[in-house]
Amino acid sequence: MRQPLVAGNWKMNGSRQSAIELLNGIKAGISEVTTAEVAVCPPSIFIPLAWRTLADTPIAWGGQDVSVHESGAYTGEIAGSMFADYDCKYVIVGHSERRTYHGESDTLVAEKFEAARKAGLIPIFCVGETLEEREQGITEQVVGRQVDAVISRGGVGLLAQGVVAYEPVWAIGTGRTASPEQAQDVHAFIRARIAAHDPEAAAEVRILYGGSMKPGNAAELLAKPDIDGGLIGGASLKAADFLAICTAANA
Ligand code: PGA
Repeated sequence: MRQPLVAGNWKMNGSRQSAIELLNGIKAGISEVTTAEVAVCPPSIFIPLAWRTLADTPIAWGGQDVSVHESGAYTGEIAGSMFADYDCKYVIVGHSERRTYHGESDTLVAEKFEAARKAGLIPIFCVGETLEEREQGITEQVVGRQVDAVISRGGVGLLAQGVVAYEPVWAIGTGRTASPEQAQDVHAFIRARIAAHDPEAAAEVRILYGGSMKPGNAAELLAKPDIDGGLIGGASLKAADFLAICTAANA
């Protein structure tokens, strides 16, 4: 039985004050009996706030990106060990915004996945096709290639140590969600791709859906057999909305 995970990706939003309020809001609303695991990924500069605010709660926290390097002259980068030092459990790698705006290749994302694991972090590894790729009918080709990059780097054993997040690029921040059936199809494809190497690992790995998941559509997405939670952008910036999605994942 895979424990659902709902992770909030705040992206580059908020202020010190609003981050404190949001963390406290989530902390106050989280039920004592959560069957779903809950995590927040604020901008790195707010991670010490999460560390202080969430330390005595079941809520985990993590980063949004990680350097492939362990330390040294890499201005602006943050090492996995630094996230680990603030007790981060997770780190997002390969988000489509990093792939698109920062030119991150499949190979670099696989390196980041490995760097995260070396630091003891659990990568939330994002994959997904653009609208153009979907319309060309090459969704499986693209997602398969992205998944294979991590498997070629460290074997299926490496991939199985992370969480996969299927985020169709056309659904991110657009209000246009993949239908539960569309999402389920790709989730099943990803699981089968992993199962071809290791059926047990495939049965255990969590595959989250991300892309305009909201309180109003979370339950039907999460009801699908291969959707094990969500990576939530916009709706993670409002405590009430985020908590409603966590509750939907609980049910
Ligand atoms: P969204 O973002 O929920 O705002 O679509 C999801 C993500 O990019 O992780």
